[in-house]
Amino acid sequence: MRAIEFSEYGPPSVLRVAEVAEPQAGTGEIRIAVRASGVSPGETYIRSGRLRELVPITFPYRTGFDAAGVVDQVGAGVTGVRVGDEVFGMTSMTGRSANADFAVLAEWAAKPPAWSWEEAGGAAGSVETSTRVLDLLGVSSGQTVLVQGAAGAVGTVAVQLAAARGARVIGTASERNHELLRSLGAEPTTYGDGLIERVAEFAPGGVDAVFDCAGGALPELIAIAGDPAKVVTIADFGAAAHGVHMSHSAPADETGSSLGAAADSLAVHGLEVAVKLVAEGKLQVPVAAAFPLAEVAAAHELSETRHARGKIVLLH
Ligand SMILES: NC(=O)c1ccc[n+]([C@@H]2O[C@H](COP(=O)([O-])OP(=O)(O)OC[C@H]3O[C@@H](n4cnc5c(N)ncnc54)[C@H](OP(=O)(O)O)[C@@H]3O)[C@@H](O)[C@H]2O)c1
Repeated sequence: MRAIEFSEYGPPSVLRVAEVAEPQAGTGEIRIAVRASGVSPGETYIRSGRLRELVPITFPYRTGFDAAGVVDQVGAGVTGVRVGDEVFGMTSMTGRSANADFAVLAEWAAKPPAWSWEEAGGAAGSVETSTRVLDLLGVSSGQTVLVQGAAGAVGTVAVQLAAARGARVIGTASERNHELLRSLGAEPTTYGDGLIERVAEFAPGGVDAVFDCAGGALPELIAIAGDPAKVVTIADFGAAAHGVHMSHSAPADETGSSLGAAADSLAVHGLEVAVKLVAEGKLQVPVAAAFPLAEVAAAHELSETRHARGKIVLLH
């Protein structure tokens, strides 16, 4: 089967389509024939070597951790899913290799019929991450939440999940994405200079929580929240110096540390919540672009612009 891998750090051109052996579903796992899979900024950082100290890898490294497709193997101990079922989900954090013709999933849920394969292919990572951070922030009905970087893959989903919990959501993005944010249930504003004042106009009484999907503005976000404990970032590796929690799920290296903070438990219950919200018409997955598997380098290039509007996926 085909799988995307790289054997040296470098630009997107180090990615190649390799012919490799098909993986087998182990205990508690399923294997799917992949129809679409996700491309994430984190994997572009790993590929470039930027995270080589924090996230050690061995070569060849196979990419992709979320995917959607048709179940073709059910591992020992798995119940509730059969060969032929359509699912979306994620690999184990150490397994990866979802950008491939067949992928082994450790977590999954039934693919909502309303979602296209493109939407489903990159949904699991955004749903899990958003759920994890909204849970950590304790976001609930009646609260006001600021989502910084709301037009990206995680931000677009975070906005909808927060709104579905009954929160009022303020989201930051470039002006061209404000209509998208409104359609997802957020009150849009721009990020950058003057953010504190702009958010104060929306919420003179302050906000209850800040979900940072962008990084680089923690002092302003802490000022807006009034307390670093009310801010969680998924994108700022300098978070600890500001007293802010950096949430991630990367496995620890042999020293027990990874990304400067311990990994949080995966919020896999979010997948079933997402299925229910899709049925209620409350959750879509904006897809920035879909590329054929062989054009994975172009997909990484788009991710590296940092201006994709929603999720980037590969079609198989
Ligand atoms: N720790 C974790 O568990 C975890 C999980 C998933 C992702 N992440 C990280 O979280 C970040 C977001 O992931 P993603 O997949 O949503 O990325 P993405 O889709 O590539 O994000 C692109 C979005 O970022 C916005 N953006 C760019 N610069 C910004 C800035 N300075 N301030 C605010 N927004 C800005 C862009 O908005 P405009 O185009 O409107 O300017 C665009 O909509 C990445 O750094 C990723 O590595 C971490």
